[in-house]
Amino acid sequence: MTGASTHAVGIDIGGTGIKGGIVDLRQGALVSDRMKVATPQGAKPKDVLAAVEEVLHRLEAEPGMPLGVAFPAIVKNGHTLSAANVSDKWIGFPAEEFFEDGLGRDIHFANDADVAGVAEVRYGAAKDRAGLTILTTLGTGIGSAVIMDGTLLPNTELGHLHRAKHSKDAEAYAAYSAMEREELSWEKWAKRLQWYYSHLEFLFTPDLFVVGGGVSKHSDKFLPLLELNTPIVPAVHRNNAGIIGAAALAGD
Ligand code: BGC
Repeated sequence: MTGASTHAVGIDIGGTGIKGGIVDLRQGALVSDRMKVATPQGAKPKDVLAAVEEVLHRLEAEPGMPLGVAFPAIVKNGHTLSAANVSDKWIGFPAEEFFEDGLGRDIHFANDADVAGVAEVRYGAAKDRAGLTILTTLGTGIGSAVIMDGTLLPNTELGHLHRAKHSKDAEAYAAYSAMEREELSWEKWAKRLQWYYSHLEFLFTPDLFVVGGGVSKHSDKFLPLLELNTPIVPAVHRNNAGIIGAAALAGD
């Protein structure tokens, strides 16, 4: 962080909502209201840009403040390379340049779950934790951040693991949106999460699971139902982890 950047703006683009806030980077805490607009239907680049502009406008942040933008796709060299819950137009799209041109300012651009992982490592549940932490966000999709001794391995996409002999991937089966869509009880949903986290545990033998996404505020309803050898805790910053992590990276 430079001496000047004690504050930054974070915007977290999701499959359902686009959220933003001004973050104090010394504390890793929101110092503005959290602004939210619905993700436009179809989530095409032009419409998403307009929604991001709206969030920025409502935040009334100083124009020179660093801006981080998080997006629900693989992000490599400023390009979005996948599109699970957004328009296919994002595949192979120069998204960082598109937002910078449209907003008329520099941004730091990264995957939404990765930045949530960064927030939890710097200011939350994974702070000072040695070894392997896997953060997953349970929302419209499932996002993942894999962090070894504080260092992020970006773009892991563990929400797209497949279950043997099933056509649906993990996020179609076990994301929070699957629970809502299929009106599952906490117990039924927890059975799906049990499969998911047991599988991750078998593949990675992590030291800590952190669970983010909006539903993490109800973690008492489902985390105690899981039987794992790895500690599993809710994200301290819950659904704000994406905003805080995007801002933190922009302030670096
Ligand atoms: C996307 C990921 C994203 C996750 C959470 C998945 O569908 O492929 O890139 O992190 O959703 O938004």
